[in-house]
Amino acid sequence: MSDGGDSVSSDDCIDDCLEACCCDCFWDDICFRIVCALVIVAVLATVVTLLVIAFVPRPVGVSVEDAALARLALADKNATATALAYNISIAVGVHNENWIMRAKHTARLDADLLFAGARFARVGLATAGAVVRPRRREVYHATAAADSASVALGSAGMADFLKQSEAGKFQLEVKLVGEVMYRPHHKKHRLDAICRLELALSTATSPALFKKVKCDVQ
Ligand SMILES: *[C@@H]1O[C@H](CO)[C@@H](O)[C@H](O)[C@H]1NC(C)=O
Ligand SMILES: *[C@@H]1O[C@H](CO)[C@@H](O)[C@H](O)[C@H]1NC(C)=O
Repeated sequence: MSDGGDSVSSDDCIDDCLEACCCDCFWDDICFRIVCALVIVAVLATVVTLLVIAFVPRPVGVSVEDAALARLALADKNATATALAYNISIAVGVHNENWIMRAKHTARLDADLLFAGARFARVGLATAGAVVRPRRREVYHATAAADSASVALGSAGMADFLKQSEAGKFQLEVKLVGEVMYRPHHKKHRLDAICRLELALSTATSPALFKKVKCDVQ
C-alpha cells in the first residue's frame, strides 16, 4: 500500500511537473514568438524609417533672411510704357533639411523681383554647381539697381504702385527659379519658390526693420 501511495503521489508529482513544464513551455514559446516578432517589426520599421529619411529627398526650404529697399519709384510713365527706378538688396537662405544628402544647384538660382505680378528685375543668387551641405543653410546675397527698368504694370498695377508709394510700404514678390539635385540621386528637381515681402524704403540713416520671411516652395 505504501508503494501504491508513493506511486500515486509520484504520479501526481509527474502530472504536476508535466503540466507546469508544458504550460511554461507553451507560454514561453508564445511569449518568445511575440517578443521576437515585435522586435523584428520594430527593427524593420526603424531601418525603413531611417532609410526613407536618409535617401528620400526632402525639398529644400527657402526664406528671405534680409531685404532692404533703398529706392523704388516711377522712372518714366507715358501712354505706352512704364519704368521703375529701384535699388534693392536681398539675402535668400536655402536650407537643406536632408540628413545625409547634399543639395546641389544644377542650374543658376535666380530671383525675379515682381511688383503686382510684373517682373522688373532678375538677379542671380547662386551659380550652377553650388552646394548646400546636409542640415545646413546657405545664404545668398544679391543687390539689384537700375535707373529705369521697364515694367508692364498696367493701369491696376500703376494704381497699386501709387497707393503703396503714398503709404510708404511696398508689397513685392521674390520668385526663385532654380534646379537642384539631391546627391547621390541624379534626378533634377525644379526649385520654385515665392516669397512675399512688405518693404518700406530704407535710408542709410534709418534702415527699415525686416523680419525673416518663409517662402512657399512649390
Ligand atoms: C514712352 O516711354 C518709352 C520707354 O521709356 C520711350 O521710348 C518713349 O519715347 C516714351 N514716349 C513719350 C511720348 O514720351
Ligand atoms: C543702392 O543702395 C545702397 C544702400 O543705400 C547704396 O550703397 C548703393 O550705392 C546703391 N546703388 C546704386 C546703384 O544706386
